Amino acid sequence: MVTAPSDRGQWTSRTGFILAAAGSAIGLGNIWRFPYVVGQNGGAAFVLLYFGFVILIGVPYMFAELALGRAAQKNPVGAVQAVRPNSPWRLVGLLGVITGVGILSFYGVIAGWTFGYIFKMAAGRVGDFGAFIASPWPVLGLFALFMFLTASIVHGGIQGGIERWSKILMPILFLLLVALVVYANSLSGASKGLSFYLHPDFSKITGRVALAALGQAFFSLSLGMGLMITYGSYVGKTEDLVASGISVGFFDTMIAFLAGLIIFPALFAMGQDPAAGPALVFAVLPELFTRMPGGLLVGTLFFILLSVAALTSTISLLEVETAYVVDEHGVDRKKVVWGAALFTFVVGIPSALSQGASDFFSDFGWLPARLSDPDFLSHMSFIWGDFSLAFGALMLSIFVGWVWGANKAADEIEQGSSFFAQTRGIWVFMIRFFIPVVIFVILLNLFGVFD
Ligand code: TRP
Repeated sequence: MVTAPSDRGQWTSRTGFILAAAGSAIGLGNIWRFPYVVGQNGGAAFVLLYFGFVILIGVPYMFAELALGRAAQKNPVGAVQAVRPNSPWRLVGLLGVITGVGILSFYGVIAGWTFGYIFKMAAGRVGDFGAFIASPWPVLGLFALFMFLTASIVHGGIQGGIERWSKILMPILFLLLVALVVYANSLSGASKGLSFYLHPDFSKITGRVALAALGQAFFSLSLGMGLMITYGSYVGKTEDLVASGISVGFFDTMIAFLAGLIIFPALFAMGQDPAAGPALVFAVLPELFTRMPGGLLVGTLFFILLSVAALTSTISLLEVETAYVVDEHGVDRKKVVWGAALFTFVVGIPSALSQGASDFFSDFGWLPARLSDPDFLSHMSFIWGDFSLAFGALMLSIFVGWVWGANKAADEIEQGSSFFAQTRGIWVFMIRFFIPVVIFVILLNLFGVFD
């Protein structure tokens, strides 16, 4: 897996690309964010809606980003420019780059917590999660450390390091998740959790729930901000974008689903609240590990693997900023990486302090309560992680479908994918009409049109 070592580059192989894209997709979004969003939005009905969005919107939309990236061989701004130079559309590319900064700024904070739990587990002192995230120095230190790790990898070329390790560690993460599913479901009281997770109550679906499901689908698949444009720009012309996109969607969804199969049974067995929000996984899992025989070791391993999963996502986020500055401003890649990481860290400081360390940022209620919790981090997560991704995907699907042209995009996808030729008509319809219309309707609802 190569991200342009000196200037631009290419993935070394098809697996290299799928691994990188799946590495970007699979992360805290699957294991930390998915369960808490499911919990906040009523359970199984949300899960079904989520699957529907992944299959009907997320994956077909992913082909559009990949095709644009491969055709233009550029970052999001450069790719839009290559199709329509100096038009207002380039702001859509720029919004993508900014969204990447926004997401990384709070994502890095959570990744820092995850990293901290490796040591807490190893030391056998789990302590109180609320107190931990309210302590400014450990949280800032871990956040800084995580950004440093991310920048070192993006800087040093990720082929030998992260690609080699991902190949070993990601299957281990998968096996460990399966083992935890079995354990969590053996606890007494677990079946109530399963039923919350798997028996849909469709009256729970509201406009707000639909937006959350759509936002989560984009977030988890790393869509809506041009990440797949950037990664697509390193893909060779003979690769099968359709098969790659489908495998990424499949693995990503499977990991999220497994995470839910652990969290909900465990949560109900322990009598905790499914709607606890961002703290959910950190409140449930360490408790689960302390109950398990050999749990501290398992817990340590788990948080190591989760940190690796988070790291393959943070490097993808940093890569977008980096590729933008390298391509558009011709600055040396090695210099850009550190600047971008430092900048993002500074943007993330308020999020890091928003869980109790600073009263000001912890109670930052300038968005309506029906949209997000009052702390700064939740606001960032809503603005960049839900709204901006959905909005970006709306704009980019219109751009690909109508401005660049769905047929040109389909020609690009067809290179390397023989299967696509038969379904091309359906895809053209989806990218031009179905996808933008569904996203638009759901976004309208932000203004309370249907609730
Ligand atoms: N998909 C990642 C996760 O689920 C987060 C992520 C990485 C992301 N890169 C992205 C989200 C680009 C949106 C866009 O953890």
